[in-house]
Amino acid sequence: MDNRSEIRDLMISRRARLSPQQAGLPAGGTRRVPGLRRSGVAQLAGVSLEHYTRLERGNLSGASDSVLDAVGRALRLDDAERAHLGKHPRRAILLGAVGTLAGTLLGACTGSPEDAPTAAAPATPSAAGNQSRSAPATSSSGSGKVLLAYFSRAGENYFNGGRKQLSVGNTEVVAGLIGRRIGCDVYRIEAADRYPDDYEETVARNVREQNANARPGIANPLASIERYDTILLGSPIWNVRAPMIMTTFVEQFSFNGRTIHPLTTYAMSGLGTTERDYAASCPGATIAEGLAVRGEEIAGAEPAVDAWLRRTGLLTR
Ligand SMILES: Cc1cc2nc3c(=O)[nH]c(=O)nc-3n(C[C@H](O)[C@H](O)[C@H](O)COP(=O)(O)O)c2cc1C
Repeated sequence: MDNRSEIRDLMISRRARLSPQQAGLPAGGTRRVPGLRRSGVAQLAGVSLEHYTRLERGNLSGASDSVLDAVGRALRLDDAERAHLGKHPRRAILLGAVGTLAGTLLGACTGSPEDAPTAAAPATPSAAGNQSRSAPATSSSGSGKVLLAYFSRAGENYFNGGRKQLSVGNTEVVAGLIGRRIGCDVYRIEAADRYPDDYEETVARNVREQNANARPGIANPLASIERYDTILLGSPIWNVRAPMIMTTFVEQFSFNGRTIHPLTTYAMSGLGTTERDYAASCPGATIAEGLAVRGEEIAGAEPAVDAWLRRTGLLTR
């Protein structure tokens, strides 16, 4: 069998063994053929259907590392499967691509619950720097003009193809890192109707909310964002976008003239469609560089978070 056929067979067979539910995608009606549609994999990987179709035909030429990384994750290829792909000329890229993000996330372990900001944030944002163990570094938020607003869900979650019980949500861990680093105000968005601890139940509820274009209620609404120039919007990725409660949040305010940095934690989809979605929901806002941290790699995220804070000018020291 030639290289192209091997790649095609591998990708098709791995797509066939994944159910939409496992992938956190809507079931999408009856389907004669088992598994995800090509469009589902493309959606999870954040590439166009046309691009994914070309890859699945065994044509990997010109595919970037990040695309191959995303496709490998979307199809949940294991090491043996990646080794099988290694017979293809793009071997180095495919094998290397799996570690693209991980490679930038080496560093100190900071993912313990005590790294998270306050468990239940008040409707008045808390100055995270004041709660930190060390004084916040000088940053553009020193003027109190930066807000980090985030949603995060602890409980059973996706973890490297399996499940893991999280006592603190991944996004909350990253929010804690950022809050301590730049001393910005931190506001945790709480759902009025709390999301279940169970992963599958949460997937099902989220699919219902997305299909209905719902606006889930917020238990601790924020009065105003008037004093902030820059807002970091943090959330997990649910079914390739931010949970609908983030839309509830952003639609309450005018972001006109403000700068938004999307911030996500994810399993496969990176920033998902957050940049597009916030641009649509927040007319007049500048959507600046976002940060996506893989949930499974949160414990080593500090260097990547730091590098991003410096790149974006949020941390100047
Ligand atoms: C309902 C649900 C849907 C998810 N869908 C996706 C997805 O489409 N793409 C992805 O990369 N990760 C997905 N994930 C994984 C989460 O984005 C990831 O575990 C994240 O770090 C969780 O953050 P949190 O602990 O702050 O809630 C999903 C998780 C849940 C619970």
